[in-house]
Amino acid sequence: MRESYGRVQLHRPGGEQHRLFLASMPAATFPLPEYKEHLLPDQVGAMVPHAISHAGSRIGPCIGHTLTGSRAPVQFDLAEAPQESRPPTVLAVGTSGSGKTVFQQFVLWQAFMQGSLIVDIDPKGDHRLRELPGVADCLEEIRLSGEERYRGLLDLGLVDRRFGWPLEIDKMLMISLGTGWWRMRRDAAKFMMQPHILKARDVAMGMVQDSSLSALTIMQALSEPRKPWTINSEIGDQAGESLTMGESLVFQRFDASLEADDVKRALNLGRLESLGFTSRLEGMRQLDNGSGQNLKDLYAIGLEAGRAKTPGLDGIEAEDFPRHFDPAGWRRAAAG
Ligand SMILES: Nc1ncnc2c1ncn2[C@@H]1O[C@H](COP(=O)(O)OP(=O)(O)OP(=O)(O)O)[C@@H](O)[C@H]1O
Ligand SMILES: [Mg+2]
Repeated sequence: MRESYGRVQLHRPGGEQHRLFLASMPAATFPLPEYKEHLLPDQVGAMVPHAISHAGSRIGPCIGHTLTGSRAPVQFDLAEAPQESRPPTVLAVGTSGSGKTVFQQFVLWQAFMQGSLIVDIDPKGDHRLRELPGVADCLEEIRLSGEERYRGLLDLGLVDRRFGWPLEIDKMLMISLGTGWWRMRRDAAKFMMQPHILKARDVAMGMVQDSSLSALTIMQALSEPRKPWTINSEIGDQAGESLTMGESLVFQRFDASLEADDVKRALNLGRLESLGFTSRLEGMRQLDNGSGQNLKDLYAIGLEAGRAKTPGLDGIEAEDFPRHFDPAGWRRAAAG
């Protein structure tokens, strides 16, 4: 490392020596909130001893040349990493004014020319992608401002433009009905022992769980469900944690838990009922299991999940559906 980076010098912001010296005392806190750590490109490079000498992609647009004597062309394709199941993140390092932004615009433009949909976030306002040939015609620009024409455009796809659905608490009611939920857990060692086809099935099931949970998280963040669903122990049930200023819609998830303990409680199974319980539970978790016992079990669990044991907290109640969404006469008919 010393051979290659022998000339590396340590630079510190001028005038900070005294504070930095004090910071090196035991138990002192780091005094420069602006800089967690101050590193120059050479230093970042020197910290990557396992870096490869190969630069860029095998196939792709030419973005420059190496600094070696041969000045070999460097090709780079933004789509290469995702296509090869590698992380797609790119770190562009350079001192101020060295061309990071120009580089970023250039690779985005190359991807655009290959047919990609580009989302370009421009915090400093110095991007000029739109001036490149062919871009202006395809460009949709959204400014973070209070101006009427920009309002609501980043609202997560429920936007007026797409479906014509107005997002207001007295205009949209969304009820999400589950078919039974449990947390999928896999033993890593056992998972690895499986044949590939079973691994693939597990991965697909995991993706279904993950995406339905993240959809639920987003919906609950946009609303204040009367009976919030617990996402997990880390996130909790998001009660009082609305993402928007006020609710964007009325949303409520109803589902039954297929966790072992909850199923035992719902089916009134005592502790003795352990024989064969695991396979019975497995059956309930399979949507295509049409056996008589399974359907009976699921019916009983659904019924129990809908019953309000603690009003306002569980089950399904008329109060879960705000009055102004009532089809005329429905509430009276339900009461009578
Ligand atoms: N490949 C290039 N060829 C010629 N000029 C370039 C090139 N890249 C950048 N420049 C010039 O350098 C200027 C600064 O580049 P750029 O804005 O990309 O730097 P930056 O690294 O993003 O700076 P900052 O850290 O301040 O954001 C550009 O306006 C342009 O004039
Ligand atoms: Mg820049």
